[in-house]
Amino acid sequence: MTISTAEIRSTFLDYFARHGHQKVSSSSLVPADDPTLLFTNAGMNQFKDVFLGAEKRAYSRAVSSQRCVRAGGKHNDLENVGYTARHHTFFEMLGNFSFGDYFKKEAIAFAWDFLTKELKLPKEKLLVTVYAEDDEAFDIWEKDIGVPKDKIIRIGTSDNFWSMGDTGPCGPCSEIFYDHGEHIWGGPPGSPEEDGDRFIEIWNLVFMQFNRQADGSMERLPKPSIDTGMGLERISAILQHVHSNYEIDLFQALIKAAARVTGASDLEDKSLRVIADHIRSCSFLIADGVLPSNEGRGYVLRRIIRRAVRHGYKLGAKNVFFYQLVAALVGQMGQAYPELKEQQANIERVLKVEEEQFARTLDRGMQILGDALKELKGDTVPGELVFKLYDTYGFPADLTNDVAREKGYKIDEAGFEAAMAEQRKRAQAASNFGADYNTQLTSMASSDFTGYEAEAGHARVLELFNLDKAVDELSTGEQGMVVLDNTPFYAESGGQVGDTGVLRLLNGVFRVTDTVKIGDAIAHKGVAETGIRVGDTVDAQIDAQRRQAIKLNHSATHLLHAALKKILGPHVNQKGSLVDPERLRFDFSHFEAVSKEQVRQLEALVNQQIRENHSLGTQLMELDAAKAAGAQALFGEKYDEQVRVVSMGEFSMELCGGTHVERTGDIGLFRITSEGGIASGVRRIEAVTGEAALTYTQQQSQQLMALAGMLKSDVQTLPDRMTQLLDQSKALEKELQQLKQKLASQAGSDLLSQAYEVKGVKVLSSKLEGIEAKSLRDLMDSLKNKLGSGILLLGVAESDKVSLIAGVTKDLTGKVKAGELVNYVAQQVGGKGGGRPDMAQAGGTQPEKLDEALASVSTWLQDKL
Ligand code: ALA
Repeated sequence: MTISTAEIRSTFLDYFARHGHQKVSSSSLVPADDPTLLFTNAGMNQFKDVFLGAEKRAYSRAVSSQRCVRAGGKHNDLENVGYTARHHTFFEMLGNFSFGDYFKKEAIAFAWDFLTKELKLPKEKLLVTVYAEDDEAFDIWEKDIGVPKDKIIRIGTSDNFWSMGDTGPCGPCSEIFYDHGEHIWGGPPGSPEEDGDRFIEIWNLVFMQFNRQADGSMERLPKPSIDTGMGLERISAILQHVHSNYEIDLFQALIKAAARVTGASDLEDKSLRVIADHIRSCSFLIADGVLPSNEGRGYVLRRIIRRAVRHGYKLGAKNVFFYQLVAALVGQMGQAYPELKEQQANIERVLKVEEEQFARTLDRGMQILGDALKELKGDTVPGELVFKLYDTYGFPADLTNDVAREKGYKIDEAGFEAAMAEQRKRAQAASNFGADYNTQLTSMASSDFTGYEAEAGHARVLELFNLDKAVDELSTGEQGMVVLDNTPFYAESGGQVGDTGVLRLLNGVFRVTDTVKIGDAIAHKGVAETGIRVGDTVDAQIDAQRRQAIKLNHSATHLLHAALKKILGPHVNQKGSLVDPERLRFDFSHFEAVSKEQVRQLEALVNQQIRENHSLGTQLMELDAAKAAGAQALFGEKYDEQVRVVSMGEFSMELCGGTHVERTGDIGLFRITSEGGIASGVRRIEAVTGEAALTYTQQQSQQLMALAGMLKSDVQTLPDRMTQLLDQSKALEKELQQLKQKLASQAGSDLLSQAYEVKGVKVLSSKLEGIEAKSLRDLMDSLKNKLGSGILLLGVAESDKVSLIAGVTKDLTGKVKAGELVNYVAQQVGGKGGGRPDMAQAGGTQPEKLDEALASVSTWLQDKL
């Protein structure tokens, strides 16, 4: 059985806790009060002030597993993700820390003891580096620990001098490397081949001694300290006997989930790795309060999301998919990081909104880029094009870079930067003028709005428009707009949607599907079910039931706005509002999460105001007087001198041209259906009122009752019942795990009875049932031990593939190599493979030929032995 990533995390924390270290939780990815840092990028960040002596803690030794993001800022790995076996935007750093307590000697001894005794890594697989001038560290490794001289490498570059950023705590460091074996390309640190994947750094021990100043000078820290960092994913890869971080349990689960939601079939596809990596950074960033935006942290998040989405589409995803991976991530990491679990719904919503926005432009942008690449001469994509894709289609430059790189091109970064600078200049110039969004259509008419009181009225047609110009007549079946001299139809504005209804003519109707303003004219959009001419008279009739539902939602929006200011604070400002018959949606500025308790308070306060049954006051006032009286106006909005003020008791007073209920009691009931962030510093509440609120409430309780019924409990005891069930399922899972282990070892013993001899050598060549291919290595190890000396070949046949593993005990590898044996068998089942002399694996595609292939082993061995 291999050890899981979760177990490795807790083994580390427990080991150092046993050695006097305080367990400290991971801090947020958004560093508290540290403007020098974009994201938390190392375990030591949260202890920065402790190292500097500016903060005291009750402990002098600490241990943590810290979530880190290295995308943007001094440490940036974004562009390597997917291209190497070991880079991530998000990873977990295991670290032990000493604040003026122990130093080099103990730090090195702890690390060695943990790796070789606790984790039982073979010493000969490890090598270490020290900073070139650090003789002390060299001697400790050589004399105290006993690492042979040729495995202690002196490195003179910044690789062995760690600093958090351009300023802050820093010091020389010593790194521990693991040798993944000669079958992988790469050389030891310091050699020309060091960038290969063979020797992988797993642990960095930093001997914190200095505080780097802005001018580059080094100040000594009050006390020498220790900061270490080990990548959880890298150490897991080693302990799970895989080479790439992406093969560890945690990533495999995410990769499988990503394959499921994108429809990809090749689990080795690089794009699946990118997505599996990115869902971690994106989800944790959102959990820590970052939201996609066009600047700073929000922009880095946006870039990562868009990169992931693009890779999903490359894999063939047809629908919005990325957010669907949050559940799988919570399954893997929710226990270690409860904040992730709590935020699941919010994370999903943010990702979904962002992907939907991006998806609309992605296709078009990809096509433009694809066409441009076809015509490109040379291998560089011009900066202008990169800019256009960014500006028009929201393609971050690194996304274009990513696509270009896959196709063997690079991008002209300087040209892109220059185009960006131009754009900034233009934007500055443009901001001095008001933008004019008027449609092409203009109207000479002015319509009176009668809809505050009336739902119907008699009116004359002043103007008609077809889709693109003013006309005298709309014929039967034609689409267009009708302008009347007076109308009860409300034209869309201030977030309230336009009315629908009918305009009745003598012998037919014009069916109104929406109402908008063109200048001072109110235009009814729709279809002429009979011909209509300028000068005709009509009976205008709004859909009164729909309007009533809209009124409820609009008045409730005012109550909500006022309640937000009371409960979250006066900084809350309206950022957007949509009022339609089904629901209300209100966007507002607020820079932190709104707690569940606050949502409850908001709902309670609005409902209280509903029950107070204030009558609605509407008043026409001078703008200044209205503001002086405390009416809420929207910042940046243009108002006439005369404004309409809508008030509800003492509670709410707003400038508003919309239609409202007569008394707040008409709203009946107000329920918030969702709350969450939608952009940096902007949040959104959706709510329902009246009948819809009642339906919502009833549905929720029905669901609860149905759930209770399914669990044979009642609503009151549902939480207890649920906890009980979850505990039970955990216990069962554990039991199942133990049984599986037992079965596997029994299967091992049964198998041994099938061993036969070839020229006095014990041989086993068997087909296995019910064993997962991934546990073959463990099984092989244990069979080899039990057999003592011998040659083994095991095969598992699944529906359309074969997994093979060969093992040869050390005493026999002189005669037979596992790699050759496995290859011999693999060829017969449509595959090939290879590996070490004592253990090698292969796959095949023809399960039906497995029996015959296994039977051929004894003959083949006759010649070899
Ligand atoms: N702070 C050190 C690093 O990040 C341990 O490598």
